[in-house]
This record gives sequence, C-alpha cells and structure tokens, in this order.
Amino acid sequence: MHDVTGTPVRGESGRDASLSRRMAMHGAHKLQIGLFGANCSSGRAVTLVEERWSGNWRDNLALARMADEAGIDFMLPIGRWKGYGGETDYQGATLETITWATGLLASTRRMTVFGTVHAPLFNPVIAAKEMVTADHIGEGRFGLNIVVGWNEGEFEMFGVAQREHEDRYVYAQEWIDVIKRIWSEHEDFDFHGKYLDMKGIRGKPKPYGGARPIIMNAGASHTGQAFAVRNCDAFFLQASRTSLDETAQRVVKARTAAREFGRELGVYTVGVITCRPTRQEAEDYFQHCIVDHADWSAVDGILALKNISPETVPMDQFLIMRSQYAQGMGGLPIVGDPDHVARQIIDLSTAGLTGIAVSFVNYLDELPYFCDEVLPRLQRAGVREPV
Ligand SMILES: Cc1cc2nc3c(=O)[nH]c(=O)nc-3n(C[C@H](O)[C@H](O)[C@H](O)COP(=O)(O)O)c2cc1C
Repeated sequence: MHDVTGTPVRGESGRDASLSRRMAMHGAHKLQIGLFGANCSSGRAVTLVEERWSGNWRDNLALARMADEAGIDFMLPIGRWKGYGGETDYQGATLETITWATGLLASTRRMTVFGTVHAPLFNPVIAAKEMVTADHIGEGRFGLNIVVGWNEGEFEMFGVAQREHEDRYVYAQEWIDVIKRIWSEHEDFDFHGKYLDMKGIRGKPKPYGGARPIIMNAGASHTGQAFAVRNCDAFFLQASRTSLDETAQRVVKARTAAREFGRELGVYTVGVITCRPTRQEAEDYFQHCIVDHADWSAVDGILALKNISPETVPMDQFLIMRSQYAQGMGGLPIVGDPDHVARQIIDLSTAGLTGIAVSFVNYLDELPYFCDEVLPRLQRAGVREPV
C-alpha cells in the first residue's frame, strides 16, 4: 500500500499522496511556480509604496484561492518572528507559518502549502504533529521548509541561544531524523543524540496516505547545502544574475550531490516579478517602488544583521547588495513585458530548474496579469500544462 517510489499511496479520500506525487506538487508541470513570502507584511519588497503587501489573512486567503484556481503549484511562507524595522517595520507583521498553511490548505484544492519551521525553536514531537494535522487537512499537500535561523535578535526573544553555524545543522539533523521517524515508525522509539535525548517517542496519525510531506531547505553555506542534499526533496539555490550556464552548473552540482545519497532532488530558485504591458512600464514601476521609494532604513537594518556594511565589504559591492536586498531580498529580478518575463522563466527551466518561487509588490493586484499573460506563454513553450 505505501511506497515512496511512486506506487499510489492513497489517503481516506482517495487522493494519491505518494512522495513522487507530492514532489510533483500533484501536477505535471515541467516547471513549477510558487508564491513566496505572502505571509509577511510587505512580502519581499522593501518598499514604502502605498500598495505594498498587507500580509493580512484576508488578502492571503484571497490570494491562495486565486492562485489555486490558476494552477499555481505552491505557496512558501517566511518564518519570521521580528520585523526588520525601518519606516515600514519591514516584515513586522507575520502570520505563523504552520497555522497559516493549515488555513490555506483547508481553503484550496490543488496547491502545496509549505510551513517554514525553525528547527531550534519547535519541539520536534509537537512540530511533527502540527505538520501531520496540516497534511491531513490538505490531503497530502503540506510541505516542510526546514530552517535553522540566522537572526540573533529573534532567538534572544525566545531565550534560546543561537548555536555556532555548523552546530545549527548538527541539531537540525537530529531534529529531522526524529521527525521522519515519528512520521514513519509504528513502534515507540528512543532517540539519544548530541542535543536531543528523548524516550518512548510516538506520533499518530501518520501523514496523509502514509508517505511523508516533502521537505525543502535553502542553505547557502557548504554545510547548509550538504544538509539539503542529504535530507531534502527540494533545494533552493540562488540563480546567477548574469549567466544561465552558471545557473545550470549549480543545478547539476546539487543534483549530482543528492544522487550520491541515492536521492532525487528538485532544484528551485527565487524570483521577483514586475510584469507590465510594456518593458518601459515595468522598468518605471520597478524604479518607483524599489529605488525611488525603497525603505532604505529597513534595508540597512537587514544588511547590518548580516554584517554587511561599507566597513566589511568594498563600497561598490555594498551598493550592489543594498540594491539587491531592496528588490526582494536578493531574489532574481524579472522585469519586463509578458514576452520578456516568460522568456526569462523558460530559460530557467532550460537551465534545469524544477521550479521558481516568485513574489510581487502586491501579489493580489499583480497575479491576475501574470496568470493571464505569462502562464499561457509558458504553456505554449511546453514548460507548463494547461490547467
Ligand atoms: C527560498 C528561501 C527561503 C528561506 N526562508 C527562510 C525563513 O523563512 N526563515 C529563515 O530564518 N531563513 C530562511 N531562509 C534562509 C536559509 O534557510 C538559510 O539559512 C540561508 O540561506 C543561509 O544559509 P546557511 O544556513 O547555509 O548559512 C530562506 C532562504 C531561501 C533562499
């Protein structure tokens, strides 16, 4: 009955929730498209403009329903506990991601919804059960984005000491080992690790249909990437801004590393879309939001947290990074008319990427145009199926 290789694993309502169907996000698109960051105020755009994203539940719900109807494959939230300050308190209001995902899964039919979980902040037994609950409500459509955290101030608020970078991933390894065992083992078990010491562990029910939720990670360091290829089904990497070949090489490298562990890895990236009827209009809007009306005090706060300042990096690099963080916290900017936007996305698919998680300044206002104009172009190019 249960098989991670693709044999149907059906839950109570009959939906196939095998790992391979979960990895395909229950669809058949060559390139998957998701929305990134909608659970946070301002989303991914560090801007002052009036129409910046509210991040409130009403808008999230409307967005998820619209995206689900249009065939968007997934929504990926940001796990953030404290805003970044600045004039807008960038990402200051955020909906907790597992509860957010649960509400959206109950209100949609097709898409996968991720929870972004800070391993050091969530007891694994509680997290495993919360995620299973979301997975049952979504009939196999919950996904886990495991993060180890990097923002010291957030951890201080919990009274939890941030570990040294390498140790964060040692802890995360134990955490995910426990979670996977809770999801799959039918006998009680003990776990004695370097950090976790737990007895008589049990979790019921198992995930919907028996196969586990897909797991993603976006580690950028060598250790973070090694963690992803060892443990995850999906890995997010940064696409090169200048060379598709370079992006293709990064994709091959990640997939090859995963195959050494006998794993198939979906490889994704992050994009920031400004799509308007003409290239000039798109560039003007981009300039208006992300340059002329960027929340620079928030951007500088984010950079300071990452220890990026004119004192730590050469001035020319600092200015480039400053502008990249304003425009979607470092995601690939895709700015232009529908032909241009579609072309860029098709190129990413050609480079071997499995999918892209995108953001807009205002997701609800901008998604309809993207779906009406860009998705059909992607279908004609063979990277998306008709919905
Ligand atoms: C698509 C994507 C989503 C991420 N989501 C979060 C998040 O929600 N919360 C968080 O603290 N870090 C998040 N991160 C940061 C990564 O998990 C990771 O910590 C960061 O890329 C640094 O890599 P390292 O941990 O290997 O040093 C995200 C990164 C990317 C690219």
